[in-house]
Amino acid sequence: MGKQKQLQVSAIQNGTVIDHIPAPSLFYVISILGLDHITNQITFGANFDSHKLGKKAIIKVSDKFFEDDEINKIALVAPHAKLNIIRDYEVVEKRDVTIPDEVVGIVRCFNPKCITNTEAIVTRFTVQDKTNLALKCHYCEKITTSKELKMI
Ligand code: CTP
Ligand code: ZN
Repeated sequence: MGKQKQLQVSAIQNGTVIDHIPAPSLFYVISILGLDHITNQITFGANFDSHKLGKKAIIKVSDKFFEDDEINKIALVAPHAKLNIIRDYEVVEKRDVTIPDEVVGIVRCFNPKCITNTEAIVTRFTVQDKTNLALKCHYCEKITTSKELKMI
């Protein structure tokens, strides 16, 4: 036993490992990144023990390297996610995610009367506060907070 470390999900040769995802957000992250529509090899695991998160999830996508604006979309549901860029089995870079200034089409507006809830219109918010999440709807100008946060 001792200190020997074992990978709970097999190592990958090239690609991206998204670690420290809160376990309940795993499937939101998969959907936000469109991982259910790509042909790359994907492995994931959920409900691993984490000191910081209680239970965490991890996703490994082979041969995929995300652009910042693509990966930052997951910050709403996984603000402490860590990206590990893997090349030839080595971690060559670690990155954090940051909440973007604008959120398009991921979250519902909490106002039931908002046009985005009554017609087929993609939601669009300006992020007014990143610490105490506050999303201002582009259409009805109401503020959606983390308490009311519902994914599309
Ligand atoms: N990893 C992988 N394939 C590799 C190398 C690493 O899947 N060829 C994964 C590891 O399983 C880990 C993550 O990438 O989940 C980060 O690797 P590493 O930095 O070695 O692990 P830690 O030191 O535990 O990272 P941290 O403390 O940042 O979580
Ligand atoms: Zn609205």
